[in-house]
Order: sequence, then structure tokens, then C-alpha cells
Amino acid sequence: MPSPAAPPPPDAVLFQMVFGKAVTQALSVVARFGVADHLAAGPKTADELAAAAGLNPGHLYRVLRALAGLGVFAADDAGRFALTPVGNLLRSDVPGSMRAVATYVCDPWSWTPWGDLAGCVRDGRPAFEKTFGEGVFDYLGKHPDEAATFDAGMTGFSQQETAAVLRAYDFSPYRTIVDVGGGHGALLLSILKAYPAARGVVYDAPQVAAGATGAIRAAGLADRCRAEGGDFFTAVPPGGDLYVLKHIIHDWNDARATAILKAVRAAIPPAGKLLVVEMVVPSGFGPHPSHVLDLEMMVLCDGKERTEAEYRDLLAGAGFRLARVVPTDGPHGLVEAIPV
Ligand SMILES: C[S@@+](CC[C@H](N)C(=O)[O-])C[C@H]1O[C@@H](n2cnc3c(N)ncnc32)[C@H](O)[C@@H]1O
Repeated sequence: MPSPAAPPPPDAVLFQMVFGKAVTQALSVVARFGVADHLAAGPKTADELAAAAGLNPGHLYRVLRALAGLGVFAADDAGRFALTPVGNLLRSDVPGSMRAVATYVCDPWSWTPWGDLAGCVRDGRPAFEKTFGEGVFDYLGKHPDEAATFDAGMTGFSQQETAAVLRAYDFSPYRTIVDVGGGHGALLLSILKAYPAARGVVYDAPQVAAGATGAIRAAGLADRCRAEGGDFFTAVPPGGDLYVLKHIIHDWNDARATAILKAVRAAIPPAGKLLVVEMVVPSGFGPHPSHVLDLEMMVLCDGKERTEAEYRDLLAGAGFRLARVVPTDGPHGLVEAIPV
């Protein structure tokens, strides 16, 4: 039996971590220029890929080699690169595609504020606002091209997460489900497909709701689902018996998150339920994706990932009682709450 590989020495571990920026940017280049889409039909050399994507072949080769070493591509002796299961997620046309996310993390609106993490940690203020002078969602509302990539990224994430949510939670008691901040409706449309008796409303900022309308039509669900534009700090649509908030509360500090929850509280009927879908931070210090996402929230939007106890307190402040946290087989928890 081969002996287990020795762990890499500390300097090698730290080198990989410190130069994480190179990995993020290399992935973003591959995503931005559609390299994985060019590999969908089979392996290609860097020269072939560079010709197809209009890139410098020598430099593209170096990017692909670096990512092959990390398991994004497999390379053969003829210098051809092929997609691994990890690299396959950088294609545009796969469920749960991460192409848009990998692209937008290096768009200036997302990348530049990270350069001021130090300032953010020093003064406790979100770097995004200091960089651009407004909140991230106000900014995206004025920059449709960047917003389109962000919205596509959210759809890709939702496609990844939806199966786990559907396996974990029984939506059959609900007749009308309102997805507050539902983006282009990826989660709600999957729920409605699985539960033909249910109807739904995707509620988001007006320009995002317009995109949701197209997605609803494309899914053939216009008879049971509609999109509505509005501001969830002001009001959310009435008439739901389940209100879903997925990756909404983590975008905001406690005061702003409480305002959103109070708007839901004003609309929800006494027997209604609220489902907050987030990466609930587990106790302890073991690796968990919520810890990294928490930093993204810190830099971009003054939000945070929260523990179960923090959700309990937050919900109580808005007139809800946390009933239970339903685990999924993914990194998310389903925080179920009832109005009190
Ligand atoms: C992180 S995304 C989550 C989208 C979706 N729930 C998902 O999980 O993919 C946050 C969403 O909140 C929406 N949003 C931000 N501010 C809003 C506001 N004031 N009113 C309504 N929606 C808003 C954004 O447009 C975006 O779609």
C-alpha cells in the first residue's frame, strides 16, 4: 500500500494562500473569455483556444498550466487541455454554472473594494461604499451590464443550491410563495415545478424583476408565477403563506436586515411562515464556506453571515420566532420562523 503523501510544508501552504489572488484572476480570465465553452466539445491546445477566443497563446498557456495544476483542467502530453469536473462548471450552459460568478468577482465593482480590506477592517465600514460612494445594489441598479453578470451569477448559485433546498424542505403546505429579493426566480421556479399546486411571486428591484418576468415565461410558468418590482425596505407583496428570503439577510447589517424582516412581518398572515435560506455559521473554527462568504459581505455590503443565535435575535427584533433550522446536505440552513 502506498504511504499517504506528506502534507506540504508550511511555506508552500502559505504561498498558495497568499497568491490566491492569482488563482481568482486566472479563473476569471478563463470565465470571461469563454475558454471552458470552447473546450466543451473536447480537448484543445492553448494555441487553438487562443485563436478561438482572440487571446495571446503564450500567456493563455501559462494561465491554463497554472489552473491545470489546481485541478481545473487536465493536460495531456500533446499539450491539449480538457475540462475536469471542476473546470466544467466554468461553462455557460451547465446547471449551476459558475462562469458568471468567476467573471464578476474580477469586474472592477467587485474586485476594487477588496483592495481596501485593510481599511475596512480598520474602520469597520464597507469598502464598497468608500470606493464608489453608494451601496452595491444602488450601484448595480445603474450599471446594467455589470448587473446582468451578477444576476446570472446568482442564478448559477441558485441552481446549485435548489436541489438541496428541495430535498430538505416540504413546500406542499403552501399555496402562495413569495420569494423576496428572488433575483431572476431560479429558486422559486424550481419549487413551483416540483409543487404544481403552488403559485408564486418573485419580488425584486424593478430592473431585476423585469429579468424575472422573462425567466418565468421561458420556464412556462406564467400562469402560476409573476414578477413584481419594488423596494423590500418599504413593503413586500401581501398574500403569501410562505415568504422566502434567500441570500438577502446576509447582504445587510442588523438595522437594515431588521427593516426588511419588518416589511415581511407587515405582510405575512398570522399562520404564514418565513424561510430564511443562508449559510448559517456553525460553531467552532473548522473550514466552512460561510467564513469566506462572510468576508465578501463585509467588503461589499456591510452584511454578514450569522449564527443560529444571531438569526434568533434578529428575527425576534422584527416580530418573528425562530421555529427551527432545517439542515440541508449543502452548506445552507433553512431558518424557519413564524410571526408572533
Ligand atoms: C444576493 S442577491 C440574491 C438573489 C436571490 N435570492 C438568490 O439567492 O439568488 C440579492 C438580491 O436582492 C435584491 N435587492 C437588493 N436591494 C433590494 C431592494 N431594496 N428591494 C428589492 N430587492 C432588492 C437584488 O436585486 C438581488 O437580486
